[in-house]
Amino acid sequence: MKRAVAQAAIAHVPADCIVGVGTGSTANFFIDELAGIKHKLRGAVASSEASAKRLQGHGIEVLSLNDAGTLPVYVDGADEITRHMHMVKGGGGALTREKIVAAASRKFVCMCDASKLVDVLGKFPLPIEVIPMARSYVARELVALGGQPKLREGFTTDNGNIILDVHNLQIMNPVELETTLNNIAGVVTNGLFARRGADVLLLGTPEGVQTLTAA
Ligand code: 5RP
Repeated sequence: MKRAVAQAAIAHVPADCIVGVGTGSTANFFIDELAGIKHKLRGAVASSEASAKRLQGHGIEVLSLNDAGTLPVYVDGADEITRHMHMVKGGGGALTREKIVAAASRKFVCMCDASKLVDVLGKFPLPIEVIPMARSYVARELVALGGQPKLREGFTTDNGNIILDVHNLQIMNPVELETTLNNIAGVVTNGLFARRGADVLLLGTPEGVQTLTAA
């Protein structure tokens, strides 16, 4: 299903463009599919070092976002998504760069299998990238908001920070919570992608790939 949604995502990549590329196993399938149309691309902006390496391995030029400017499309996976196109992301720890590249793109195409489509976000622990010195303070603030933060052991982000995965949140208002979490001192980014959600969801099902847009 991951390969099928990645193949379907290629149709959303305009000719002669710089494409924004996400991170994770689904994004890896997408990168492999991009290799087949690389002669039609000006290059890619990657949301992680791992994706940059894979793109370069296929001979696709990786540009910095500062040089690339606004991108026509950003293509990535998600850990959870609702029919309102709000997402939890960051299972791979690349949430900050993912959010930046998504923000700088006109269209967000999300690729998921059907198991990730949920009514309410929060069963998947919400990743939060935190400046290391703020770990304990941010954790206390997260407990006060009703969550159970757990340090992602042995993990450092591409930006040199830590991840707290927040369990037991029932996220009824993702737009509001995204803002609240971003206002905690020491939080770099949280894994809620609600203020800038997806525009298109390519959903892998046993019957084939369905295309959904915001409800
Ligand atoms: C990485 C992400 C990924 O998009 C998310 O974790 C989904 O990954 P996968 O495609 O491997 O299921 O947000 O930070």
